[in-house]
Amino acid sequence: MRLFPRPPTARVIAGTPAASAMAPDPMSNVTIETTVGELVRAAPVRARVFEKLGIDFCCGGKKPLAEVCQAKGLDPATVLAMLTALDTTPDAGLIDADAMGLTELCEHIESAHHGYLREELPRLDFMTRKVAAVHGADEPRLVRIREIFTKFAPELVAHMIDEEDMIFPRIRQLDGGKGGVEERESLRTSIEKLEHEHEQAGDALARFRELTDGYTPPEWACNTFRALYDGLARLERNMHQHVHKENNVLFPRALAGA
Ligand SMILES: [Fe+2]
Ligand SMILES: [Fe+2]
Repeated sequence: MRLFPRPPTARVIAGTPAASAMAPDPMSNVTIETTVGELVRAAPVRARVFEKLGIDFCCGGKKPLAEVCQAKGLDPATVLAMLTALDTTPDAGLIDADAMGLTELCEHIESAHHGYLREELPRLDFMTRKVAAVHGADEPRLVRIREIFTKFAPELVAHMIDEEDMIFPRIRQLDGGKGGVEERESLRTSIEKLEHEHEQAGDALARFRELTDGYTPPEWACNTFRALYDGLARLERNMHQHVHKENNVLFPRALAGA
């Protein structure tokens, strides 16, 4: 999707009529230099705008808004206006991860995201296999989706196990006041590995989106085919929230001792 393609020129968006009418104004310190990860950390509902525009706010969360808009040919002022409009609408469905303690956040991620994946990956495994077998001759991209999924799913399961067995327990200890600089430094190395794995998972999700035309089934698709695309779209949404909470909230706060 392209919105008024032109390079970013305006630096600050705070003070737009919509933003200045609000009190308190969550956009007051926002500029196009603010990273997308920080934007979502401050107001998780903003993820919806980024999802709609295909902007990666989890693995790519460290990039400033100006940079991601430029890469996608989007007008940053328009994107900020969309974010501002959302800020006036509270969304109870999204969790404010930044308001949670580290232990609480680990528990939330395990139940809302790891639990979701443990239920959903076997279902998607079945559907990717079945739909590729039945419709792969008519739509060869289904075979490619299946190939990518067979690598993506077991790697993701191994990644979750590492987090649950090795990383989250150390974060809980740090949250309980145990551990100091040395523990945090050794945690940093482990976290870098996890972030690299998040990028690989993000690449696979981007490929799913591309290979499914943005999760749009063809006219002739049967119900299982449609259910697969719907399931992959939900997987992407859940994973973006999941990785955002780890990359932009849990990990930096654990390393900072906050
Ligand atoms: Fe995780
Ligand atoms: Fe993770």
